[in-house]
Amino acid sequence: MVTKKLTTKEIQKIKIDPKALPNHVSVIMDGNGRWAQDRSLPRTEGHLQGEQALFECVEAAIELGIPWLTAYGFSTENWKRPKEEVRFLINFNKETIRKRRDELHERNVRIQFIGRENWRIPKTLLKDMDNARDLTKDNTGLTFTVAFNYGGRAEIVDAIQCMIKDKLDPSKITEKQITKYLYNPEMPDPDLVIRTSGEQRLSNFLLWQSAYSEFLFLNEMWPDFNKRSFHKAIREYQNRARRFGDL
Ligand code: IPE
Ligand code: IPE
Ligand code: MG
Repeated sequence: MVTKKLTTKEIQKIKIDPKALPNHVSVIMDGNGRWAQDRSLPRTEGHLQGEQALFECVEAAIELGIPWLTAYGFSTENWKRPKEEVRFLINFNKETIRKRRDELHERNVRIQFIGRENWRIPKTLLKDMDNARDLTKDNTGLTFTVAFNYGGRAEIVDAIQCMIKDKLDPSKITEKQITKYLYNPEMPDPDLVIRTSGEQRLSNFLLWQSAYSEFLFLNEMWPDFNKRSFHKAIREYQNRARRFGDL
């Protein structure tokens, strides 16, 4: 399956302005468990369905030509969940990377990860993450980032520790310098942060980077999110007036 970029006309047909697309869209994929519970299914079924929703977003981003897509896959706080669910999520992420790596590569997608890599993540998973990153590092299409074992506060703590180890002169610590010490200094700030499931919070996602992001909180559960929801979100984004403190 190859996903082609839509033409300007095709993009306009879905009432999206091809000239005002966000550079970076991020998603807090929430509500998998509730989606399953509502159907009397095990929570794990919600995660399985959620994976489909995520790859619909990837396709939609490729079709629109959005350069960056980031998804919150597992937070530094998600280790608090019952052991079986944590184990499932770790395995599930491993399987997803293995399953999707080649098709993403075929579609010229560059796969990246942000998160704390030297804490708690099993070595086998780290190896799969490295393989996916290496295989796709020269791709020039969508940069698809999975925030895994990610916490915005942990990221800032890790950045401060590295700055101190590097003996940075305090007068050199600027916003630009801090950005250089984040997990991926190249990643632009998200223009749009979408969260599903009706919860209106960040849950420790991209704290530094979302200072001026537009937020969109949707009531649908993540497994119900699809390409149409993604397009709708982009249309909503295009109705916002961003000022960045200016007039
Ligand atoms: C999001 O769905 C997936 C992860 C956090 C890994 P949840 O598992 O949080 O589902 P709810 O919020 O309990 O419904
Ligand atoms: C946020 O969802 C983390 C991910 C989507 C990976 P949570 O379900 O963990 O967030 P809270 O606990 O409701 O804030
Ligand atoms: Mg949740």
